[in-house]
Amino acid sequence: MREKLNHIREMVLEDIVNIIGLDELENLRIKYLGKKGELTLVLREMGKLTAEERPVMGQLANEIRNEIEDTLASFKEKLKKEVRDDKIKKETIDVTISTNNEKLGHRHPLLATVEELENLFISMGFSVVNGPEIETVENNFDALNSPINHPSRDLSDTFYLNKDLLLRTHTSPVQIRAMKEMGAPLRIVSAGRTFRFDSVDDTHSPMFHQLEGLVIDEKISMANLIHTLDIFIKELFGDDMKTRYRPHHFPFTEPSAEVDVTCFDCRGKGCSHCNNTGWSMELLGCGMVHPNVLEYCGIDSEKYTGFAFGMGIDRITMVKYGINDIRLLFENDNRFLEQF
Ligand code: PHE
Repeated sequence: MREKLNHIREMVLEDIVNIIGLDELENLRIKYLGKKGELTLVLREMGKLTAEERPVMGQLANEIRNEIEDTLASFKEKLKKEVRDDKIKKETIDVTISTNNEKLGHRHPLLATVEELENLFISMGFSVVNGPEIETVENNFDALNSPINHPSRDLSDTFYLNKDLLLRTHTSPVQIRAMKEMGAPLRIVSAGRTFRFDSVDDTHSPMFHQLEGLVIDEKISMANLIHTLDIFIKELFGDDMKTRYRPHHFPFTEPSAEVDVTCFDCRGKGCSHCNNTGWSMELLGCGMVHPNVLEYCGIDSEKYTGFAFGMGIDRITMVKYGINDIRLLFENDNRFLEQF
């Protein structure tokens, strides 16, 4: 019997090497440990043993049963791990694989314009700064020398959140933030969303975009302003672009001007779009920063002067890309956006 038991132990070890699946392993267990299994059959013969032999064989049989159970259990773990590893391997996603139908998006024409404008000004030594769309009434109006009775402060022109906060009506409050934070000298541009109580049509939207510029240093003059903007316009639209500075009024600049540029359609010859004047009107507002604004921000207006300008980015985008309705810029219709 001892021999039979030892033989079973060896047989199990021999058999197990050939097992490749969990089902086979279970069959092996039944073959040796099952009700009609080999070990069970041997144990049935226990009755034939003498009273002295019986406990000895009983102990050996138990040892061997435990050993076989341990072997099977650890082999089962090994198989399970293999199955798991195999599954993980098969389920790995190859992110580099080509599906041949990649749809690459691209920048919105408005954003492309903002980046182009910012890069132009960066190349002229400006830094880009950002300001919040929710502004204080103080930064949007008071600090910009716009008195309490100024028409643009009216409820019918501006979106107020409460008596102290509003949706900024222009990007000029970023001037105030920059001057207060960084002082003089300063050379910044800032682009972003602006809001006014306008009804929607093909050239108006209550939400639109501006780019603001501000330069402050000693001895800055109107000549610097005109030179900077002329270079900018030529870089953006071409060398044949001419500019015209018309006197205007802004509370925060003095003197102030509006800038017209050569008509984009007829390039100055005169056409129906420019009322035969050859000029495209009001592309920019600009002027020399009012001393009150400098002083409000703690900058010595005897020592420093500066110029500022602001422009509508939506209009520039429309001119650059030949878009005739501002609403198209905000509707996010793919049929429109895919064209750029
Ligand atoms: N903030 C002005 C506007 O929205 C534009 C402007 C900016 C004018 C800076 C002069 C200087 O119309």
